[in-house]
Amino acid sequence: MKWQVLEDSEAVAQEACQLILQAASQAISDRGQFRIVLAGGSTPERAYQLLSQAESQWEHWHIYFGDERCLPPDDPERNSDMAARTLTDHVPIPSDQVHPIQAELGAKAAAQAYEKVIGDALPFDLVLLGMGEDGHTASLFPGHELPQDALALPVRNAPKPPPDRVSLSPEALGSCRELLFLITGAGKKTAVNAWRDGTALPIAGINTLGRARVLIDQAAMP
Ligand code: 6PG
Repeated sequence: MKWQVLEDSEAVAQEACQLILQAASQAISDRGQFRIVLAGGSTPERAYQLLSQAESQWEHWHIYFGDERCLPPDDPERNSDMAARTLTDHVPIPSDQVHPIQAELGAKAAAQAYEKVIGDALPFDLVLLGMGEDGHTASLFPGHELPQDALALPVRNAPKPPPDRVSLSPEALGSCRELLFLITGAGKKTAVNAWRDGTALPIAGINTLGRARVLIDQAAMP
C-alpha cells in the first residue's frame, strides 16, 4: 500500500483526478474500455468535478458503484445522484455504461440484481473508496457480518444513515487492477491511526493483487 500525503483536500482531488485519467488512458489503450467503481460520500466530489472538466475517451468508460443508499433514485443523498451532479451528467459516457445500484428496490433485491452486473464486470480497472470515521468503507461497517463469496451485499442497520444500503463485498472491491483510497479531514485521523496500527477495520479488509494507494491530506494523518 502506497501512502501519498498531500497538503489539503484540493491537492488530494487534483492528484486523484490525474491518477484516474491515467488509469483510464491505460485501460482503454490495453483493453478498449475503462471499468471504474466510484466511491460515495462527500470526499470524492471535488475529484469528480475536476474529472468532468477533463478530456478522456468517455465513450469507453463504464461506471459502477461501490455502494448505494436505499433511497429513491433521484434522492440527492444517493451516491448515484452525487456522481451525476458532479460527473456523469456532464461527460458523454453512454447511459447504458453507467450502472447504478437499484437500491430503490430494497437492500436484498438490489444486491441480488447487482450481483449479476458485477459478475460480468470483474476485474475492475480502478476502484475508488472513501473511509468513514469508524473505519468503514463503501457500506462495510464494523461489526457487520460478511457473507462469504457474495459480490454485492444487502446492509441493514448501518450506523451511517440511511440504515438500509447495498455494498460491494471485500471480494468484489478487491477484484481490481488498482485500488485508490481518498481520505481527507481531521475527523478521519483516529481511524487512519487504527488502520496503520493493524486494527481489523473494514477498510483493512480490502486487498487487491494489483496496486493500492492512499491519497490522504495532512489533516487526516495521525
Ligand atoms: C457512503 C459512502 C461511505 C463514504 C464514507 C466517507 O455511502 O456514505 O460510501 O463509505 O465513503 O462514509 O464519507 P465522506 O467522504 O463523506 O467522509
